Amino acid sequence: MTQDELKALVGRAALHYVVPGEIVGVGTGSTVNRFIEALASVKDRIPGAVSSSSASTERLRSLGIHVFDATEVDELSVYIDGADEIDPRGFMVKGGGAALTREKIVAAQSKRFVCIADESKQVQVLGRFPLPVEVIPMAARRIARQFAGLGGSAQVRLKDGAPLVTDNGQHILDVTGLQITDPLGFETMVNQWPGVVTVGVFAHQKASVCLLGTANGVQTLTY
Ligand code: A5P
Repeated sequence: MTQDELKALVGRAALHYVVPGEIVGVGTGSTVNRFIEALASVKDRIPGAVSSSSASTERLRSLGIHVFDATEVDELSVYIDGADEIDPRGFMVKGGGAALTREKIVAAQSKRFVCIADESKQVQVLGRFPLPVEVIPMAARRIARQFAGLGGSAQVRLKDGAPLVTDNGQHILDVTGLQITDPLGFETMVNQWPGVVTVGVFAHQKASVCLLGTANGVQTLTY
């Protein structure tokens, strides 16, 4: 199976976790796009979705799925999203699509995080994928130096030759060269650095379940 077929497979498998009659939290990215397509087939059974990005909102609406603002909802039973990396404990790196801040907000609002990923996303230790960190632009240079102190190398993410601007009006640093052996401690530490909006380590908001697309079908991992 191709990577895209694996994404479609886990996207469909995630429908099993959508609770009829309840609003569902929806993430961002190419795997979630396949989930959104599948969700359209059951849209009459749910009131709608809370979305983690402008891109997903647009896609949900184009398929006739109502999008609620996160502030209209107290708690979601489930949040379904992809990942750039997932380790054996369900800790993840996210933010390859620059939507990490809203993703973390909706994940924190949800009782369960169901991660949908193809098997290329599985790692033993987080850090192979460049770690996305959303930052206030005036702090970017200093934060890059703080990562250098940990052995990392941070670059401002560019789009069309200029710093990419997130849905929240901020910039993204992509940090290479890290081995994140203590995701909970690392997330807590970086969260304290002035100017960090969101670090792309999802340890405090880790996955409860991962639906992993493999050559042998969907493997369900629970944490
Ligand atoms: C978006 O900011 C990310 O967190 C995505 O969920 C992550 O990059 C996975 O995306 P793909 O499903 O496109 O690999």
